[in-house]
Amino acid sequence: MTDNKTAPIGVFDSGAGGISVLKRLWALMPNEQFLYFGDSANAPYGTKPLEEIRALTVSAVEHLLDEGCKAIVLACNTATSAAAKELRETYPDIPIIGLEPALKPAALSGVHPTVVVMATPLTLREAKFQSLTERFAHRCELIRLPAPELVELVEQNKMGTPELMDYLEALFAPLDKDKIDCLVLGCTHFPFAKRELRALLGSRPVFFDGAVGEAKYTKVVLDERGLRAPLDAVGAIRFESSDPKKLPLLEQLFSFEL
Ligand code: DGL
Repeated sequence: MTDNKTAPIGVFDSGAGGISVLKRLWALMPNEQFLYFGDSANAPYGTKPLEEIRALTVSAVEHLLDEGCKAIVLACNTATSAAAKELRETYPDIPIIGLEPALKPAALSGVHPTVVVMATPLTLREAKFQSLTERFAHRCELIRLPAPELVELVEQNKMGTPELMDYLEALFAPLDKDKIDCLVLGCTHFPFAKRELRALLGSRPVFFDGAVGEAKYTKVVLDERGLRAPLDAVGAIRFESSDPKKLPLLEQLFSFEL
């Protein structure tokens, strides 16, 4: 696969959220080519039926492979839950790196901490998260918090607006905010609301998201398979969206401080 080394790494999300992963990938591997594809025309995924999300994810990944990508980073918890297994079976020679809510590090971060996992309804209900909870839920007080509208608020670039703050206030109203030790951002859109979440929840909760871990793991996999671009190569990022109106948002979020 040596001729593949300079091919792009495909990064996929249902929309703009995966930019939170792309930023980490770029920080680690600035000598790589990245092709980011956001399926904003079909976002949100997390409220759709499993089969529909699977079909959308497979077709987005096929597009990235048609563009010559050497590896696929599913920068989306929902798409990973719905389609990672099937994609790995279909493309055994292509590294396909997925993402899951960071329940494990949160649950193990203290003595029976209270852990709130924010994610899409699909992520919280599918087998991947069920198996995570079987392994780690007994180590913490686990609270599942589906937050599908937060995906749309980020897609609409509502960061810093009262609308976003009002939504989060209502979302957390039933919870005892002072008791939250860990907040797992189990959807790649959610780190863009970190400022508002911190303002609402104060300094106590530790925030966990899977982006840095996924970026590091991608690097390890590419190294193992001999798929890294030469270290002196000049990297670049190309953005694509199924909704061309969303391209400026992708670029804007890439500069967002996380
Ligand atoms: N960004 C996706 C995730 O990490 C989901 C967003 C959506 O529902 O489309 O789960």
